[in-house]
Amino acid sequence: MKAIFNTIAGDPHGIQIKETTQPQPEDNQVLVQVAAVALNVVDMTNFKNYYKTNSVKSQTKLLDKLYVHGEGKILGADFAGTVKKVGKNVRKFKIGDAVMGISDDYLNGSWAEYIAFSESNVVLKPERLSFEEAAAIPTTGGTALTAIEKADIQSGQNILINGATGGVGLYALQITKALGAKVTAVVSGRNAEFVRKYGADKVVDYHQVDITQDKNETTFDVIVAINGYHPLYRYKKMLDKQGNYVAIGGVKQAIAAMLLGKISTIGSQKQMGAISLFSAREDWLANLQNIINQSDFQPYLDRVFSWQDVDQAMAYGCTQHLKGKVVMKID
Ligand SMILES: NC(=O)c1ccc[n+]([C@@H]2O[C@H](COP(=O)([O-])OP(=O)(O)OC[C@H]3O[C@@H](n4cnc5c(N)ncnc54)[C@H](OP(=O)(O)O)[C@@H]3O)[C@@H](O)[C@H]2O)c1
Repeated sequence: MKAIFNTIAGDPHGIQIKETTQPQPEDNQVLVQVAAVALNVVDMTNFKNYYKTNSVKSQTKLLDKLYVHGEGKILGADFAGTVKKVGKNVRKFKIGDAVMGISDDYLNGSWAEYIAFSESNVVLKPERLSFEEAAAIPTTGGTALTAIEKADIQSGQNILINGATGGVGLYALQITKALGAKVTAVVSGRNAEFVRKYGADKVVDYHQVDITQDKNETTFDVIVAINGYHPLYRYKKMLDKQGNYVAIGGVKQAIAAMLLGKISTIGSQKQMGAISLFSAREDWLANLQNIINQSDFQPYLDRVFSWQDVDQAMAYGCTQHLKGKVVMKID
């Protein structure tokens, strides 16, 4: 079979489709013929700098050694496809099932014709979604859901999502709406109509208004801050008395929220924190699947590439201001 390998740390020219041995499922695993895979931040981080500088930083070469899909490994984590074989302890799936999922602890890459992953990391693909749409969900949908669970979002609450057009933000918006909350979405003005279609009740253009400094703005029960973008103390002022703040991504802001969040809220009922690196849990894919089946949750695919054009897909994925997700068809 063929798979996409990372052959030169941090250099996108080293991303190649190569022949390799087809995996065999262990007792608790399913073998899936992959139809589509998603690009996630974790797949692109080590390559992003190359597009700006045409070189690989020595720091990136070092980081690549710690990276789960470093030099010599198959890239990718999220996938959708069809079950071709099941291990002897597998109970949830049979041959021919259409499924979506995520690699076990990100260890084995999913950008391959066949993958063997634990059944706990796989669920049936919602029927109304295509393979490409389903592949676009696991990591970013799981990240959005983890943040929403951490913030304990409830029906009727007033929620701010700062950065609602990207992969995580658009899922956070849709899951929050499915829970019956009211959402203010902060995005570029050109994306205002786009996020309204996905349920935003109010839209703020961050090019026009800094919401954290706007004296006319209301306070919120929950703030989901994608990439932070503003200092923690300003978000704190925007929280209701018992409000929750969760940062996603934005390394400095997320670390600040994790380290200072507890200290800065001592003596108040507010809570401030961040979600750390997302890791798959037994129930999260099933929870996402329920939300998809019970609401009009719909992934938005910014671009769909053939995996033969992985170089173009990576270059595109590494640009700024994408809407929703970038996926590749394994054709
Ligand atoms: N913890 C985990 O396991 C995990 C998993 C996946 C992703 N992440 C992290 O989550 C973060 C989000 O990724 P993503 O793919 O959803 O999104 P992204 O592409 O980083 O999206 C950024 C969003 O922020 C908006 N934005 C840009 N500049 C802004 C500003 N100055 N003020 C307010 N909003 C601004 C953008 O709006 P416009 O495009 O409309 O301008 C867009 O909605 C990344 O940092 C990623 O590393 C973490």
